[in-house]
Amino acid sequence: MHAWNFRTPVLIAFGEGKAARIGALVKGRTSGKVLLVTGPVLLRTGVVEPVLQSLRKAGVPFALYAETSGEPTSRHADEALALFRREDCAALVACGGGGPMDLAKAVSLLHANNGNPRDYARKDASPRPGPPIFALPTTAGSGSEVSGNTIIIDAASQEKLLIGSPTLVPEAAILDPLLTLSMPPSLTAATGMDALTHAIESRVSRKATEMTIPLSLRAAARLVRFLPLAWERPDDAEARRECLLGALEAGLAFANSSVALVHGMARPLGAKFGVPHGLSNAMLLKTVTAFSLSGDPHGYAQLARAMGGDAAGCDDMAAALLPPLLDDLAARLKIPRLRERVGREELDAQCETMVREALASGSPANNPREAGPEDIARLYREAW
Ligand SMILES: [Fe+2]
Repeated sequence: MHAWNFRTPVLIAFGEGKAARIGALVKGRTSGKVLLVTGPVLLRTGVVEPVLQSLRKAGVPFALYAETSGEPTSRHADEALALFRREDCAALVACGGGGPMDLAKAVSLLHANNGNPRDYARKDASPRPGPPIFALPTTAGSGSEVSGNTIIIDAASQEKLLIGSPTLVPEAAILDPLLTLSMPPSLTAATGMDALTHAIESRVSRKATEMTIPLSLRAAARLVRFLPLAWERPDDAEARRECLLGALEAGLAFANSSVALVHGMARPLGAKFGVPHGLSNAMLLKTVTAFSLSGDPHGYAQLARAMGGDAAGCDDMAAALLPPLLDDLAARLKIPRLRERVGREELDAQCETMVREALASGSPANNPREAGPEDIARLYREAW
C-alpha cells in the first residue's frame, strides 16, 4: 500500500451537550469577534440556540450570517466575507449541515488569499491558512466538520466547484447528537445516504489507506443498522448518536482517501437540477456501485460483509450482494428515483455537460473501475 497522510482537526469533541460548551472552547483558542455562519431554518427553529447561548455566556462577541439555505454559492461567500471583514472578525463558528460549514471554509480561504473560489478549485492551488473554523454539524452526513473540502456553486455558471486543501480542515469539530434530533425523516435519509456513500467510496477509492479502511467499514456497518431506526423514530437518541458517529467515521475516511465516481456524478445533478447533495448521491449509489464492483471485488465484499450481507462465499459472490442491499435500504428510506425530480429530456439535454463536469472534478479518477465519458452518460440514464 502507498504512503499516506492522515489529517484531522486539532480537536474532535463528541457527545450530548457538547454544543453548549462551544463558547468556552472558542474563548480558550481565539481572541476577538467571531462570525457565526448558520442557516435561516436552523435559526428560526432554535436548533442553533444552544450555540448562541453558549457564546453569549462565555462573553464571546459575534456577528451572524444566516442567509444560506441549502448549498452555498459564490455570492454567499462574497456576502459573508464582506461581513467578516466589516465586523473585524478573527474566527468562524459554523453550525449547520454541509452548506454553512462549506461556506465558513470559503470565507476563511478568501479572507487569507483574496480572489474567487474558482481560483482555488485547481489541484495546483496552494492557499495560505486562514482564520480558524469551529464546526458543529446539525446533520449526520456531510463530514465537512473534519474535511479540508468545500463545495461552492459558481453563481454565474451554476457549476459546483470542489476546493480541497489541508488549510481548510477546521480547527475543531464539535459533534453533539442533540443538534441532529429535529431533522425530518427526508433530511435524515438524504444526509445519511451521503454519509453511507462516503463510507463506501472511501473504502474502494484508489487512495484508501490502512488508516481509512477500518473507519470506512465501521461507518458502513453503523449507518446501515441505525439509519433506518433514526428515520423511523426521529427522537431515538441512540440511533441519532450512532448515525452521527458513523457520519464522523465516514467523514474522516473520505477526507483522507477521497470519494469517487458517485460523488463526481452527483455534483452536476445538484448544480443543474437543484437536487440536494445527499439525495443526488443516494439516487446514483446503487447503479454506480453495480458498475464498479469488478474494479475491487475484495473491497466491496468487505463492505457487504460489514453491512450484514450473508456473505460466506468468495469475494465476487459477497460483493454482488451489495447492490440489492442498497436497493432495500433506499426503499426503506423512501429515496425517490431520479426520474421523479428530473425529466428525461432535461437529463438528455444536460448529459454531455454533466459528464464533462463530473470528470473535471477529479473524483471519478479515484474509482476502482475506470469510467470514460460514455460509461458516465450511460450510468446517468440507467440511474434515471
Ligand atoms: Fe458527500
